[in-house]
Amino acid sequence: MGTYAVTGARSGMGRAVVERLVAAGHTVVTVDLSDADVVADLSEADGRRRAAAEVVAACDGRLDGAVMAAGIGPVPGREMPRRILDVNYLGSVELLNTWRPALAASGEARVVVITSNSATVVPAVPRRAVDALLAGDAQRAASAVAKYRKHAPTMAYAASKVALSRWVRRQAVESVWAGEGIRLNGLAPGAVLTPLLEAQLNDPAQARHVKQFPIPIGDYGDPGDIADWVVFMLGPSAHSLCGSVVFVDGGSDAWFRADDWPRPVPIRAIRRYFKRMRAAQ
Ligand code: NAI
Repeated sequence: MGTYAVTGARSGMGRAVVERLVAAGHTVVTVDLSDADVVADLSEADGRRRAAAEVVAACDGRLDGAVMAAGIGPVPGREMPRRILDVNYLGSVELLNTWRPALAASGEARVVVITSNSATVVPAVPRRAVDALLAGDAQRAASAVAKYRKHAPTMAYAASKVALSRWVRRQAVESVWAGEGIRLNGLAPGAVLTPLLEAQLNDPAQARHVKQFPIPIGDYGDPGDIADWVVFMLGPSAHSLCGSVVFVDGGSDAWFRADDWPRPVPIRAIRRYFKRMRAAQ
């Protein structure tokens, strides 16, 4: 039996993951704003530092896996973009960077980061915001989305998930992750019926957008189904799963982006491609 850390553990998909891991006999260290082993606000730098350290202490420096499910939806409000960027991006990345030695200590740890299909289906996400996040600067990212005014929370949300997906793919292949036996992957849900989506459906302006959004299978995802996918990605069959972002979104990403991926290496990128290959030898 293993020891796992789960953020966003008191609600929605995180909660469903915890239920499954506990039922299977694993030890779970939970992180959330309340009702958790580690109570911390991941929108604050100090909360993130404390949460990261307290989990390492609670698991005696060895983690078999982690599930990063804490997140905030595109909630309206002036202060929300910065909060969304902090929780959704830094709330995963900073904790995982601190937990990496504990994950390496397991020898075959698995990490699942909950991203979103917002990373691929929200148009015109400002690149400056994504780049700023990847550089660890949430304030600069917030400035980059501010000009979108009432759409700033949506842009902050999508930018946080683009950056998170990209961070997962960049880091997963590095020797300090893959080389230490850690399998780092993302899972991108579409609309899943959790309190986060219910809050959007209860707000008439947001509900209109959510309801008109194309979902080829015709209904919302179930948090328990998503948790089953997460648990599978935490298991031994995930040995070769490395740097993948698995879309479990009812088909929306395929509907909008069918021809955009997989995409062969374009001719203009060939020099960079071979340079990278040579550097790895
Ligand atoms: P949820 O609202 O049911 O659960 C999110 C959890 O994160 C809550 O327990 C909440 O307390 C925690 N959280 C929020 N702010 C926090 C903070 N400052 N510090 C610590 N914990 C905090 O939402 P759901 O739907 O289960 O979301 C889980 C993840 O899935 C999120 O990252 C969300 O962005 C993502 N997602 C959700 C979709 C949906 O339609 N429900 C679609 C795509 C992605």
